[in-house]
Amino acid sequence: MRSIKAALDFGADALKHICDRPRFEARILLGASCGLNAIELATKEQAPIDEARFEAMIARRAQGEPIEYITGSVGFYSREFLCESGALIPRAETELLVDRVAAIAKRFDAPKIAEIGAGSGAIAVTLALELPKAEIVATDISAEAIIVAQKNAARFGVADRVKFAHANLLDNVNFEADITFSNPPYIRADYPLPKPVSFEPKVALIGGEKGTEILEAIIELKKPILVCECGYDQEAILREALRANGYKMVEFYKDYANLTRGFTAER
Ligand SMILES: C[S@@+](CC[C@H](N)C(=O)[O-])C[C@H]1O[C@@H](n2cnc3c(N)ncnc32)[C@H](O)[C@@H]1O
Repeated sequence: MRSIKAALDFGADALKHICDRPRFEARILLGASCGLNAIELATKEQAPIDEARFEAMIARRAQGEPIEYITGSVGFYSREFLCESGALIPRAETELLVDRVAAIAKRFDAPKIAEIGAGSGAIAVTLALELPKAEIVATDISAEAIIVAQKNAARFGVADRVKFAHANLLDNVNFEADITFSNPPYIRADYPLPKPVSFEPKVALIGGEKGTEILEAIIELKKPILVCECGYDQEAILREALRANGYKMVEFYKDYANLTRGFTAER
């Protein structure tokens, strides 16, 4: 049987062509494969490891699959969410969307919040945890994503305040929200996706030929307060759509790279 050091050597070597920190990632996968945390990996040199499981994980990562799908776990807003291939891996910049929705929600005693495109449910669940009196309804067009989202709501004990619906946009959702928000798919159809992103569901990524089609459909719902993530080059087209749909207070926000990443809008 391999020692932990030998397993890490093997994993790091197998991943050196695919990522910048192969030993770091090999350690994460080794820990996930045998249920040991970083300290245990460093201190229990003779701990038994599940070599077959570890090698299978390394093989998947060597093919370019994102590590979050392999470990089944993703960090978002300082919590660990379940992550399965039927749902998009939540991105760090989407924490900015949470911040904006949470800031607006403070205006309401018990905010009613609707999300379009829940994905893993990480955003809706985070808001429920950050806003203990909030009631949230989140839709997704993907049945697979809804299953992941429901598991995350149950995992964090908020399933009573976060309801998920399998729906297009907010079709047939009978819920008068104070705030509606979305991180919809907004990549244009002919954009060449980097290899790791190609493991994620297309329905979570592609917003249409231009990329802005779903965002425009959301704006056309004319909700009183709308907060959305968008692409860095979509501000002009979305400003015009917001204006045409009667939104008066419109503010675009930037991400950590100082690029446009979303907007808040009120009618
Ligand atoms: C970019 S992902 C965002 C997922 C999650 N909110 C997040 O930020 O990690 C977009 C989500 O919208 C869903 N979606 C795409 N088109 C939709 C539609 N017409 N109505 C509802 N959901 C849709 C996709 O299935 C996907 O889960």
